[in-house]
Amino acid sequence: MRRFIFFTTFLLLSLLLFSYRLSQQAPRLPAKALNYANIPLPPHLAADVVQSMDNTPADNPITDAGATLGRVLFYDKKLSINDGIACASCHQAKHGFADPRTFSVGFEGGLTARHSMSAANVRFYQNGSFFWDERAETLEAQVLQPIQDPIEMGMKLKKLEKKLKRISYYPPLFEDAFGSPEVSSARISKALAQFMRSMVSYRSRYDEGRAMHPAREPFSNFSEEENAGKSLFFNTERTGCSHCHLTDMFVGVEARNNGLYKEYTDHGKATVTEEWMDEGAFKIPSLRNIALTAPYMHDGSLATLEEVIEHYAHGVKDHENLHLLLRDEGPMGRGSGPPRQLKLSVTESAALRAFLETLTDSSLISDERWADPF
Ligand code: HEC
Ligand code: HEC
Repeated sequence: MRRFIFFTTFLLLSLLLFSYRLSQQAPRLPAKALNYANIPLPPHLAADVVQSMDNTPADNPITDAGATLGRVLFYDKKLSINDGIACASCHQAKHGFADPRTFSVGFEGGLTARHSMSAANVRFYQNGSFFWDERAETLEAQVLQPIQDPIEMGMKLKKLEKKLKRISYYPPLFEDAFGSPEVSSARISKALAQFMRSMVSYRSRYDEGRAMHPAREPFSNFSEEENAGKSLFFNTERTGCSHCHLTDMFVGVEARNNGLYKEYTDHGKATVTEEWMDEGAFKIPSLRNIALTAPYMHDGSLATLEEVIEHYAHGVKDHENLHLLLRDEGPMGRGSGPPRQLKLSVTESAALRAFLETLTDSSLISDERWADPF
C-alpha cells in the first residue's frame, strides 16, 4: 500500500511537472491577432519622403498573422542549435532592440565580430541592405543569417524546419500566417521579416512635437535646450548631422566613412565589395531610440552619446575615404580640406545630446506587439 501511494504520488507529480513545462513552452498569444499590418503612422512618417524609403517587397507585405509568427520566432530560443539563444538575446527590447554588450554572446559563449545594432525601424532603410557592411541584400535574406551563423545560433536550416515541425505550437501559427501548416525556411524568413518591418518607432517626444509643428519650428513640448539641440542637428551648415542621418527616420541611404579611425581593422563595406572606396564605410543606422542602444558604432567603441558627439566635435580622423561632409573647405573647394571638427562648445554638445534623447520611444519597447510572448 505504501509503495502504491508513493508510486501514484510520483506519477502525479511528474505529470504536473510535464504539463507545467508544456504550458511554459507555448507562447501566450491573444485570441485575436494584434494589429501589425495597419499601424497608423503620424503624418510626418506617413509622408512621401519617409514612405518612399520603405523596403517592403511586393511578395511579403506585413500581415497580422505573419508578424505574430515572426514575434514567436524572434523570442524563441529553439531557433538555436542548443536552445540557448534567441534573436531577442542580442536584440533586447529595453535596449531599443540592440545589445548593451560591446560584442554579443552566441549560443556557445563565442563573441560576435561586431556590435549588435538596433533591429527596429529596419523597414525604412531605402537600399534594403542590412548589417554594418550592408552584406545582406534584403531583410528576408538577413534574418536567416544569424540562425546559421556558427557563432550566433549555429543552426542548419533543414534541421530547423524539422525541429519546428515537431513543436506543437508552430504548425498552427504557420497555417494562420500562410494558409497551410507547412514549415519552410522561406516562410520562417518571411515571417521574421514581417515582424521586423512592423517594428517602427513613432511615439517619441520628437514625434509628438513634430506632429504639432509641421515646419519643425521650435517644439512647444521641448525644453529650450532640446530645441537648441534640434536646431543644431538640422543645421546643415553648422553640423550636417541631418545630411547623413536623413528624414524623420534619421537613417542613411548608403554606407559611409565617418572618420572613426585613420586605419580600420574592420574594413566595413570593403569586406564585401573589396573596393578601396568602401574601406571603412559602414551603414548609417537610424538614430531613433539612440539613447537606449549604447555602446555606439560598428565596434561599440564609443560608450556614450557624449563620446559620439565628442567624436564629431573634435575627433574626426583623416581617412582617405572620409566623407566630404566631414571635411573642411580646401584647395579644391568644399570637402577637400582636412577633417572638419565641429568644435561644439560644452553647451552645444549638451544640447545636441538632449535632442538625441527626445528620439526615445518608450512605447515601442513596452508595446505588447513586440514583447516576449513566452
Ligand atoms: C548572438 C547575437 C545575435 C543573435 C542571436 C542575433 N543577432 Fe541580429 N545582429 C547581431 C549583430 C552582432 C549584428 C551586426 C552584425 C554585422 O553587422 O556584421 C546584428 C544585425 C542584425 C540586423 C541588421 C540591422 C540593420 O539595420 O542592418 C537585423 C535586422 C538583425 N540582426 C535581426 C536578427 C534576427 C531576426 C535574429 C534572429 C533570427 C538575430 N538578429 C539574431 C547579433 C545577433
Ligand atoms: C558623412 C555622414 C555622417 C554625418 C555627417 C554624421 N554621421 Fe553619424 N554616423 C555615420 C556613420 C557612417 C555611422 C556609423 C559608423 C561606424 O559604425 O563606424 C554613424 C554613427 C552615428 C551614431 C551611432 C549609431 C549607432 O547605432 O551606433 C550616432 C549617435 C551618430 N552617428 C550621430 C551623429 C550626429 C549627432 C551627427 C552630427 C554631429 C552625425 N552623426 C553626423 C555617418 C554620419
